[in-house]
Amino acid sequence: MNEDWTTVCRVSDLKPDTAFATEVGNKAVAIYLVEDRYFATDNVCPHAYALLSDGWLEGKEIECPLHGARFDIETGALLEGPAECGLQTYPVRVLRDEVQCQTHNLS
Ligand code: FES
Repeated sequence: MNEDWTTVCRVSDLKPDTAFATEVGNKAVAIYLVEDRYFATDNVCPHAYALLSDGWLEGKEIECPLHGARFDIETGALLEGPAECGLQTYPVRVLRDEVQCQTHNLS
């Protein structure tokens, strides 16, 4: 059964070490390709309102463009404030050329 998986972009949409902004339903999600692995997190910084896909990705760390909070894109953990909590992460898989997120906890 695959009804929990939603195609969010194509593999060709992703550039290594760059966050790709997409949406699943009403949820803004960022997709990342780092060292041939795919990751997905919330795209909205939990501090105020900024899109992490407009920030800077270095290794598996994304830095918010507004106030510089940093997060681990694999675990969602907050690495440095001023945000006070981490990011939701989502399982990612690739089927043929489609990048899919598991969406049962997205709404
Ligand atoms: S909005 Fe991201 S750190 Fe403030």
